[in-house]
Parts: sequence; C-alpha cells; structure tokens
Amino acid sequence: MTDAVRDQYEDLPYPPRDPGDERHRLVTGSPGQIVEIDHYLYAGARDWAEPFRVLVAGGGTGDALIMMAQQLADRGCPADIHYLDLSAASRAIAEERARIRGLANITFHTGSLLEAGGYGAFDYIDCCGVLHHLADPSAGFRALAGALKPDGGIGLMVYGELGRTGVYHAQEMLRMIAGDGPNAERVGVARKLVESLPPTNWLKRNQAIGDYRREDAALFDMLLHSQDRAYRVPELAAELDQAGLHPVAFIEPALYDPDTFVRDPELRRRLASLSWLDRCAFAELLSGNLRKHTVYCVPAAQKADTVAKPTDEAAPVLKNIDGPALAGAIGPDGSIKVSGDGMEMGIRLPPMAPAILRQVDGKRRIGEIRAAVGAGEEDFRRQFAALYNALNGMNQMLLRYPG
Ligand SMILES: C[S@@+](CC[C@H](N)C(=O)[O-])C[C@H]1O[C@@H](n2cnc3c(N)ncnc32)[C@H](O)[C@@H]1O
Repeated sequence: MTDAVRDQYEDLPYPPRDPGDERHRLVTGSPGQIVEIDHYLYAGARDWAEPFRVLVAGGGTGDALIMMAQQLADRGCPADIHYLDLSAASRAIAEERARIRGLANITFHTGSLLEAGGYGAFDYIDCCGVLHHLADPSAGFRALAGALKPDGGIGLMVYGELGRTGVYHAQEMLRMIAGDGPNAERVGVARKLVESLPPTNWLKRNQAIGDYRREDAALFDMLLHSQDRAYRVPELAAELDQAGLHPVAFIEPALYDPDTFVRDPELRRRLASLSWLDRCAFAELLSGNLRKHTVYCVPAAQKADTVAKPTDEAAPVLKNIDGPALAGAIGPDGSIKVSGDGMEMGIRLPPMAPAILRQVDGKRRIGEIRAAVGAGEEDFRRQFAALYNALNGMNQMLLRYPG
C-alpha cells in the first residue's frame, strides 16, 4: 500500500458507515453470504456446528465482516473471524459496529494482507474491493491463496474494466488538474469536473456508474484514487492461475453466460464449443456493463467439485425473498423483472414456477417439493431445472443439503 492509499482510507474510510445503523439493519452483499459460501465452496453440505476460521482481508469499515459474523453467530457456528486492514480509522468503525451488535467472534488486526500467512490457515478468505488497489495485485492474490487451508475457499471482488468505462478517463483528467493539495480541495475540483462533463463524455454516458455523485468518500474512491486498476475476465483468470486458485463461479452466474443474451441458434451452437472461461469472457464483452467481478475460488490442487447440484436431497434456499412472495411477483407473461448495472431484464420462468416456489422454504428438499406439487417426474425435473437455472443465475436461489 502506498502512503497515498493509506492516507486516503485514514481520511475517508470507505464505504462510509454509521455504526449506529447496526441497530436497525444488516448490510448484505457478495461475496461472503454464508449460504453462498456453503453452495459454492462446500457443495451445500458444510456442517456449521464445526469451527470455521475466516479472514476478512482489507475489511474496511466492516460490511462483509459484520454480515459474516452475524450470519455465523445466527447459525450457532463456533467461528473465529479475523479482520485485517491497514487503515486504523476504518477498523475503528468496524469495531464499533461489532460492539453494537454484541458480536464476540471477531479478532481485529491492523496490518497488510500481504502478511496474511502470518495469521494461520483459514477455511474462508473474503477480499472485496481491495486487490485492485495494491501496487502489486499479483502478490496480493498469492498471499491470500497461501493463507488458505487445502480444502478452503475464497470469495473475491475486483473491478471490471468495461463496466467502469469513463472512470479511468475522469481519473486521468483529474491527475492533470486536481493537484496534490488537501483531499477536500481535490474533491472540490472533481465535483466541478463532474458538473462540467458534456453529454458525450463516457462517464456521463455510463448509466451503471453513479457512486461519484454520492458522498466525498465515494467520489474520492472512484475518481481520485491513486492506485486503481480493473480486470477483464481473462486477466482475472490469469491472476488466479498464477496464485494457484481455481474459479468455481462468478456472481451473478447468468451475467457470465452468453445464452442469457443470445437467442440465435447458430450463435448459441458456436458459443457451445467455447470453454467455460471463454464463455464468461465473451459474455463480458457482449453486455459491456460488468463493473466488478465477484468470484468464488478454491485452491487449484483441490480436485473435488465444490459447487452444490440440484439433486432430490437438496433444499433450495431463496436469498432475499420468500418463495410464496416470489411466486406472487411473477407477471401475467410468466416472467419476473430483475435489474442490475444499468440493465433491466425480464426472466421467463416455467409454468410450474408459482407452484414450486410456494413450497420453497429453505428446508423442504427438491424431492419433497415434487411430491407436494404433485407433478409427473419428467415434467417436474425439466421445469425445476429451468426455474433453478433462472434464479440461481441471478444469485437468488442456492442449495443446501439439510443435515
Ligand atoms: C474500497 S475499501 C473496501 C473495504 C471492504 N472490503 C468493503 O468491501 O467494504 C479497500 C480497503 O482495503 C484496505 N487495504 C488496501 N490495501 C491493503 C493491504 N495491503 N492490506 C490490508 N488492507 C488494505 C484499505 O485500507 C481499505 O479499507
């Protein structure tokens, strides 16, 4: 971490959080939700009564830290969670959030994630929005990979290049005129530049990017950061490879699947011959709006398939909505609306979707749901698969094998 980056996060901890808000809401996001970790890294079958060692690397003001600590405490998991960040100001906010929630499963450290190996081996490492700010990101990827247990897993988020179109143009302009005075002065210059952007400017045209219109810390993080790079899928895959990590899923999976957008049968046939990673790279070029890449990975030496499969014994778990409520949100044309990164899409669900969703409570297994719906086996399998692909594709439905 350069002095400029350290100074930024001491002066403007990011994201800005008021610890008092912990009294009335829990911030959730990916990576790091326990149901996702279970699904993607433990095939939906982790025993949460067993100890779980977690590192939150570059934990900042604590969003992923608090989410995981709370969700693990709610499961009664004997978790041992380590927060690591170079910014003392950010740590103070994260500590206060944990104190207000009464979370006793966290140990706080001030230091660099490049020293992650010094804190013992971890079952799970979370690193969201940090590696792209390192002077040598490859060293960061390697340091985290080296701190994983052999059967552990990691959830990462790094910036996506195409979805941030315009950000780097603005950064370049500000390097020319913002000077190196106090942060408040540079923020003032950046706000004036934002006001002066003509309609043709790429940042102005990028509807998916709006953080710089928010508070100073958000504007600084996006437009005045002294160390910030973004990745395309192949570059990220190369970083993971050199670190000995194997990607198992990008979030949301449907946004990395060209078939989400391409209907033409010939194009689909040609796309079918590509590898999974090439299809992901193609989808990124196709949509052009991925601002970040969230990816779950395991050590490359870990041969087992760690992603849960929708067999009869698996229970579908909905993340943000309950099954009957989602059934009620299906439109008359059989589709639901989803939006993200400046794009709104209708996702067509199979005719049996409402009946299936009314049975989804996070506990009932797929086989039990079939019996309750009373459908023929073949028909149910086809329609459940279509429903699962649609909802899992948008990271809404995951799987858990109840113990
Ligand atoms: C954009 S914030 C993200 C914080 C948090 N992960 C989140 O998603 O809300 C980046 C954080 O990474 C920290 N950081 C940057 N380089 C670091 C390093 N080498 N070791 C530990 N933390 C680092 C910064 O201090 C800052 O708190």
